[in-house]
Amino acid sequence: MKSLRLQLLVGVGVVAAASLAAIWLRLPPDEVQPVTVPLESSATVLRVGAEDWADLVTTRMPSGDNWVLLPATPATAEEFRSDQQGEQRGFVSAESCRECHESYYETWQHTGHAKSSSAADSHSILGSFADGRSTLRTGSEQLQFHMRNRDEKYAQVVELLDSETGQTHTGEFAFDIVLGSGRHGQSYLWFDRDYLYQMHVSYLSETDSWVNSPGPYSDGTADFSRPVPPRCLDCHATWAAWDSEQMNRFDRDSLLLGISCVRCHGPGHEHIRLHRSRPDATEGMRIINPATLSIERRNEICAQCHSAGELLGRPFEYRPGTALQEWLEADLDVSNEENADPHSANQLARLMRSRCYTDSDGIACVSCHDPHSSDVAVLESTVATCAECHGQLPCPEQSRTGKLTPRDCVDCHMPPRRDAQVEIQTESGRIQALLRDHLIGVHSQP
Ligand code: HEC
Ligand code: HEC
Ligand code: HEC
Ligand code: HEC
Ligand code: HEC
Ligand code: HEC
Ligand code: HEC
Repeated sequence: MKSLRLQLLVGVGVVAAASLAAIWLRLPPDEVQPVTVPLESSATVLRVGAEDWADLVTTRMPSGDNWVLLPATPATAEEFRSDQQGEQRGFVSAESCRECHESYYETWQHTGHAKSSSAADSHSILGSFADGRSTLRTGSEQLQFHMRNRDEKYAQVVELLDSETGQTHTGEFAFDIVLGSGRHGQSYLWFDRDYLYQMHVSYLSETDSWVNSPGPYSDGTADFSRPVPPRCLDCHATWAAWDSEQMNRFDRDSLLLGISCVRCHGPGHEHIRLHRSRPDATEGMRIINPATLSIERRNEICAQCHSAGELLGRPFEYRPGTALQEWLEADLDVSNEENADPHSANQLARLMRSRCYTDSDGIACVSCHDPHSSDVAVLESTVATCAECHGQLPCPEQSRTGKLTPRDCVDCHMPPRRDAQVEIQTESGRIQALLRDHLIGVHSQP
């Protein structure tokens, strides 16, 4: 059994990451079961090393309230600096493409991709800091979270009541990065020096409120120790240079947030250099136009992020136009109805199971989705796509139900489903994300 390198701290003083003044009690390596402290006395604070986090929360966390998990960030003197900067590798921001492709840039900037990660500020954080809406209560009377805005500095504050002394201890964590445009919700990341962690509190659009983050975040606990691996930013950002020795340590200046053009078109520096030097060229040089790829390769550009599976290569090293399976062991043969990670309906795997896909030459994601603009017209373009293969013949349902809108068609043939993989625990119950099933067909429960 792998030993947990964690330190147990009993009888909480302050929960601040930086200033923990309390008695440390180091567990012998093999004694891995955390000791539960009775609720009435006080909370239990664990310092968790990045390598141990997953193991701890999935198998070893004792049930019960008032657990506070803080990262055991290694003490490092110097900030991590990498010579692997995105610019040099052609991972440039969309600003660099703007000078020649203004119209693409204009519409792209409003997409979920463009806003899938950003620096935390008053515009990007969607949750409210207003009185009355800035508190997340939990099922535990001793623990709650307060969202604080002090001079445009935003923080999540853990408030822990010691029932013995009646004193409230607080610990605060500054919002650094926002993940998610807010279509479904947002999660937040914070840096402890140059080590990146997820914050306990997320924002859920469906309820327009602060919630415990989805997944392994139990109500009545506070966890600020979940390490953010490079793959998380690989799917949600354009570029990040990380320390290969430490799973969640980044060169902070290297981060290029938002998903820019180059993630779908491949590195752009050569293209830009050539076109700047030959302003009269009319044919694109040294850039991928996905429209010229096979349907399979074109869909794999999307599946680098819209698919679950084990990474065979390194984050940020997939190149559009190449075979995805060499880089990601994509889980495309999901044969069970429940679909696996990532917190999405695993669109390509579902689509590829449809008879529409298997009995035809295939369907491209971009036949329904315009990757350069936000998705307002997707219902119309979906119905137009059905017609490309099925013709304008009316659906047999139409004679029973009369006139149908595009939404009706899509709701029956690609119904929205609650996704058990993305579950949020709240004070009053559980909420699951509502995602569109990409298996086209006749569904028994629309
Ligand atoms: C200095 C001008 C310039 C810059 C900067 C520039 N492009 Fe282009 N790009 C062109 C020209 C000119 C063409 C050819 C005409 C056209 O298709 O618009 C082109 C064509 C393209 C094509 C179509 C290629 C094809 O084979 O049909 C894509 C895709 C593209 N550019 C993407 C990008 C991306 C992504 C960026 C930023 C990394 C970028 N461009 C930056 C000038 C530029
Ligand atoms: C670098 C990773 C990445 C690539 C490549 C990628 N996506 Fe996404 N996609 C995401 C993430 C992350 C989100 C969630 C964005 C959000 O709302 O915060 C998303 C959201 C979406 C959405 C939801 C609508 C929206 O605007 O938020 C659609 C539709 C979508 N992607 C389709 C595609 C298609 C089609 C492709 C291929 C042409 C593609 N994606 C390529 C990561 C990616
Ligand atoms: C394999 C790629 C992948 C990884 C890894 C990944 N995500 Fe995502 N994430 C996505 C995609 C794709 C979507 C859009 C899902 C959809 O709309 O169906 C998404 C959606 C989200 C959303 C909701 C965005 C919105 O606007 O509604 C949040 C929040 C989020 N991810 C957080 C995270 C965090 C935090 C991590 C890492 C700790 C992470 N994701 C890792 C691909 C990924
Ligand atoms: C989510 C993936 C994605 C992103 C992000 C993206 N594109 Fe594209 N782009 C595509 C795909 C896919 C096609 C091919 C569309 C098709 O098959 O109809 C394309 C086509 C193009 C074309 C060629 C259109 C033609 O004439 O055939 C240009 C130019 C282009 N994109 C520029 C950009 C620029 C500039 C940005 C950033 C502002 C950008 N793209 C962002 C996926 C993307
Ligand atoms: C036949 C049309 C069609 C195809 C093909 C298609 N989609 Fe979709 N997609 C839709 C529709 C319709 C929605 C729901 C839009 C809505 O509810 O507003 C959707 C929603 C989404 C969302 C938003 C999250 C959600 O579940 O609500 C993502 C992400 C997405 N698609 C990605 C993809 C990817 C990646 C591919 C290719 C593997 C793809 N789609 C292929 C029609 C399509
Ligand atoms: C690329 C071509 C293509 C596209 C696009 C397409 N289909 Fe199909 N579809 C087929 C083929 C081929 C079959 C299998 C033979 C048949 O039943 O005609 C099929 C089968 C079906 C079936 C029967 C499914 C089953 O499991 O028996 C339904 C329902 C269906 N399609 C609806 C749709 C709807 C709705 C859309 C748009 C969202 C759509 N199709 C888009 C080609 C396509
Ligand atoms: C109330 C649910 C419902 C709605 C709404 C609906 N459908 Fe259907 N559709 C069905 C069912 C059920 C079938 C299978 C009928 C059968 O096999 O006799 C079907 C069959 C189909 C097929 C035939 C697939 C094949 O086997 O060839 C297509 C294409 C289709 N629908 C498209 C559409 C379109 C386009 C719309 C919107 C105008 C639409 N449907 C609206 C339930 C629905």
